[in-house]
Amino acid sequence: MRLGSIILFAALCSFTAYYIYEPIPEEIEERWKLMLTNSFFRSLSHLADFCESLGLKDYMGVMYFITLVEKVAPLSDHHVRVTEEKFDGVDVVLYQPRLQRDDSEPRRAVIYLHGGGWCLGSSRMSPYDLLARNIVSQLDAVVLSVEYRLAPAHHFPVPYEDVYRVVKHFLQKKVLTQYSVDPGRIAVSGDSAGGNLAAAVSQQLIKEPEQQIQLKAQALLYPVLQALDLNTPSYQQNQDMPILPRTLMVRFWSEYFTSDKALFRAMMANTHNNHESSSLLKFVNWSTFLPESFHRKYNYSAPTVAQGVGGETFGVDGPSQSFADPRASPLLVPDAALRSLPKAYIVTCEYDVLRDDGIMYVTRLRAAGVEVTHEHYRTGFHGAMMFTMWPTDFLIARRMTDNYIKWLMENL
Ligand SMILES: *[C@@H]1O[C@H](CO)[C@@H](O)[C@H](O)[C@H]1NC(C)=O
Ligand SMILES: *[C@@H]1O[C@H](CO)[C@@H](O)[C@H](O)[C@H]1NC(C)=O
Repeated sequence: MRLGSIILFAALCSFTAYYIYEPIPEEIEERWKLMLTNSFFRSLSHLADFCESLGLKDYMGVMYFITLVEKVAPLSDHHVRVTEEKFDGVDVVLYQPRLQRDDSEPRRAVIYLHGGGWCLGSSRMSPYDLLARNIVSQLDAVVLSVEYRLAPAHHFPVPYEDVYRVVKHFLQKKVLTQYSVDPGRIAVSGDSAGGNLAAAVSQQLIKEPEQQIQLKAQALLYPVLQALDLNTPSYQQNQDMPILPRTLMVRFWSEYFTSDKALFRAMMANTHNNHESSSLLKFVNWSTFLPESFHRKYNYSAPTVAQGVGGETFGVDGPSQSFADPRASPLLVPDAALRSLPKAYIVTCEYDVLRDDGIMYVTRLRAAGVEVTHEHYRTGFHGAMMFTMWPTDFLIARRMTDNYIKWLMENL
């Protein structure tokens, strides 16, 4: 037993030493824990590459292991009643407060969309389950966690459309009444790719005049918001950061649209823009939309646009054909399409390739007159808020969760 642990410890140390060649910034709290966590992610990613190169299993199929190990059965307890349902054919996990109050005042609701680059993750993972219970008990709210289908089995726009269908189904008077939800107090929220879906669905709803019940708020946690410029200062500065290195984010982006590796290679080189997307580059021009202090040491240069007859285009599967579709890249819309969006809470982390996506959206929403609370974590890394479970529990996750719930408490 003793010897076994020593061997395991020694193996873990050498393993870790091998994987930690990229120093983690001093400012990050609990650095060693993050290094260990990251060495696990990196080794899994290498294993996934290896399996794919041998033709055993595709990369995301191996990475999905992360989701599986954290999956829990959503169970009811004293405070929360948990049920699994289908909303317009899409799986959802519904969390309702048990407490029956005398005044049958309707409750608030949060529609939650998990992260995982549209390829990984599940509403049934323990950090999401825990977050949902926290929201229920602290806000006395209903939480609807959406189990949208994932790429690469289901490319864009399937994950988006699943979310849209659930939201449309939920925002009906008779459905809200059934769950005692106040139609004036509903938010959509999500982290990472879930933040992308939350932003996209918020934009869609305000375009529908016949949609009577609208969202009151959107809470976007380190969201992914654009696929056009994958060389913003944050992509460059954080290309080797733990949890979400640039390669993995580019992989998620390309797999969202297609399994054709040509798009991945072009996105890696930031040369994937074509004739169609080039006219939208102005919406992600970071020299305009990032405050000077976030330019850091980088000088702006617009992404290369493929030349040739009509520009080079990449094979993109599915009925919609473009990474320039605003349902995939919510930053790519004119100001007029942002004007009547619900108020927003946007979290960004310093050590995250997606930092500048979030900050650009803050700038653009404010310019369009939308009320925005921007919380920037100077010691934050991508995904930080979901590291709430032992042994990968981080102090920063607790702070982020508290601030997030406080904002919902005051704004929803
Ligand atoms: C980006 O903005 C800068 C100045 O703010 C401008 O010089 C440049 O032409 C813009 N590029 C694109 C592609 O919009
Ligand atoms: C950015 O531009 C400035 C002024 O032209 C130059 O001094 C600096 O070296 C450039 N930085 C990079 C990283 O290219």
